Amino acid sequence: MNPVISVDHLKAYYITRAYGVERTVRAVEDISLAIRQNEIYGLAGESGCGKSTLLKVLLGQVEPPLTVLDGSVTYHLGDETIDALHIPKSQLSNIRWKEVAYVPQGSMHVLNPVRRIRDSFRDYVMAHSPRSREETDALVLEYINRLGLPARVLGAYPHQLSGGMRQRVTIALATILRPRLAFADEPTTALDVVVQKGVIQLLREVQAMEKNTMVVVTHDMGVHANLADRIGILYAGTLVEEAPTREIFKAPRHPYTQYLIKSLPALDDKSERVSIPGRPPALDNPPSGCRFHPRCPYVMDICKTTIPRLEAVAPSHRVACFLETGNPSNATQPLQEPAADLRSQ
Ligand SMILES: Nc1ncnc2c1ncn2[C@@H]1O[C@H](COP(=O)(O)OP(=O)(O)O)[C@@H](O)[C@H]1O
Ligand SMILES: [Mg+2]
Repeated sequence: MNPVISVDHLKAYYITRAYGVERTVRAVEDISLAIRQNEIYGLAGESGCGKSTLLKVLLGQVEPPLTVLDGSVTYHLGDETIDALHIPKSQLSNIRWKEVAYVPQGSMHVLNPVRRIRDSFRDYVMAHSPRSREETDALVLEYINRLGLPARVLGAYPHQLSGGMRQRVTIALATILRPRLAFADEPTTALDVVVQKGVIQLLREVQAMEKNTMVVVTHDMGVHANLADRIGILYAGTLVEEAPTREIFKAPRHPYTQYLIKSLPALDDKSERVSIPGRPPALDNPPSGCRFHPRCPYVMDICKTTIPRLEAVAPSHRVACFLETGNPSNATQPLQEPAADLRSQ
C-alpha cells in the first residue's frame, strides 16, 4: 500500500552550546519507516527514547536546538508530494491546520481558561477556514454531536470540565477541519484508566469516521494495545522493532519489546509484573553497537560493536537484533538467563 508519510534515514540531534562546550543529544538515529493511509500508527518506548522528538520531525516542526542532520520526511497527500522538512511558507499554514493536526503533550491544559469552549472552536475554525459565524457554529455542533460529546460542553469554561472531557474537546478541536494526518503525543497520559478508555474510543471513532491517518505516541503499551494498528518500538533514538499490533503482543522479537510487554499489568493476572532493569541511556553518549546491549540479557560480543540493521523477519515485521536477523559471529547463547536476571531486580 502506498505510504502517506515516508521517513528515510532520518537523523535529528539536539545540538546545544553552553560555556563553549558543544553537547549533542542523538535523539533520532537513522530511522526509516512508512506510515500508511487509514491506519493508526503507534510509537512506543520508555520516556526519553525520542518519541516526541520523532513526532516533531514528522510534523516538520524542527526548531533549534533540534537539527536534522540527514534523511527526509515526505507526505504523499493525494497527488501532491510534500517535503515536510522544507514546506514553502506559502503552503505552510494551509497544510499545518487543514491537512495536519497535532495534539501536543499536555494540550488539554492549553485551552484558553477565560473563554468558553464554543469560542475556542470559533477562533480555531474561523482562523483556518473562512466561514460565517453561523456556518461555524453549525459545523461545530454537528461535529460535537457526531463524536458523541454532550453539546453543553460548548457553553462551559475549560475548568468546568473533567480532565477526560477536556482532552476529548482538545482532540475534537484538532480534528474538526478533517485533517488527513493527525498526530497525538501522550493523549491519555495523566488520565485514569477509565477515562483513558473514553479518549481511546474517541480517537478510534475519529479515525474510523474520517478515514485519516493517525500517529499516536505513548509510553503506555496498554494504550497501544487498544488503539494502534501497527506499532514502532523506539529505544534510545532508534527503531528496534515494527509490526502489526497483534504480532507485537503475540510474538515480540526484540528483547526490549519483550520486556515492555512483560512489564504491562494484566487485568486478571495477579503475578508480579517485571520491570525493565536499568534505564535508557543518556543520548549525549549512547552505547556503541546496539544501544540496548547494556540492558540486554542476550547480549553477544557483536552487539557491543556493531549496530544491528532493522530487517524484515516476516511480512510487515521488522526487527533490529542480531538474535533475529542472523549473527555474523556464532555466539548465540545468552550470557545470563533473563528470568533469573529479572527476579534479582
Ligand atoms: N530541547 C531539548 N534540548 C536538548 N535535549 C532535549 C530537548 N528535548 C528533548 N531532549 C532530549 O532528547 C531525548 C529524547 O527526548 P523525547 O523525544 O522527549 O523522548 P520521549 O518523548 O520518548 O520521552 C531525551 O534524551 C531528552 O532529554
Ligand atoms: Mg515525550
